[in-house]
Amino acid sequence: MKIIIGNQKAYLDLEGTNKFIKETKGNKETIICPSYPYINLYNENSKYTVGAQDVSPRDGGATTGELSAKQLASLNVKYTIVGHSERREFFKESREDLIEKIKKLDEVGIIPVFCVGENRAEKDEDITKDVVGREILQVFDYLERETIQKIIIAYEPIWAISDGKNPARIPTNVEIADVTAYIKDLVSEKYNVEVKVLYGGSVNSKNVDELNTISICDGYLIGGASVKPEEFNYIMERNE
Ligand code: PGA
Repeated sequence: MKIIIGNQKAYLDLEGTNKFIKETKGNKETIICPSYPYINLYNENSKYTVGAQDVSPRDGGATTGELSAKQLASLNVKYTIVGHSERREFFKESREDLIEKIKKLDEVGIIPVFCVGENRAEKDEDITKDVVGREILQVFDYLERETIQKIIIAYEPIWAISDGKNPARIPTNVEIADVTAYIKDLVSEKYNVEVKVLYGGSVNSKNVDELNTISICDGYLIGGASVKPEEFNYIMERNE
């Protein structure tokens, strides 16, 4: 069984969130990361395990607009995305921020889902593994092995992430398996940890059957298709 994490980004409003909950079957093995204000709607209906899309690198207190790891834990959040490419790009998250976020999550027992991936130009230059390797080492080198053991890595090639309207072209199964194996080997050699690796980028009902055949891949981080009930129901059904 694959790990399925829905990253609902900022796609849905209150009505859309209620509609999605009503029209999807859900199960506790599947994790949904809604926008912060809707976390409790997912807790109330308890169809899914609840995650979050981000966390503050700080402890809380006088940090306007932030949500601390402790606050997330108090909302029954079990997983949290860290270092998504949209946050790295739009909010200029630094390496130090990512390290702090992971540490803070670990302190309260939330599993960090750490995102890495190359952009279009880096893919064309054929330096995917260099980029992904660097993104991992520059954060993991500053963490305790006990913390690294808790992390799930999401390999998300930036060029394969959908704009919400159209799914992007995605890597071949061979390419995904190759990068996944590279990540697992790197983390195993460097830190002696067997890490789980998800694929993310335009996963949908049309490509999920083929993706399901990549045995080395532990699951998916799903954006656009995680706000469309029909799409998401299909993906969950194929994972039963
Ligand atoms: P997508 O997004 O499935 O819409 O491409 C994935 C992600 O950004 O996590």
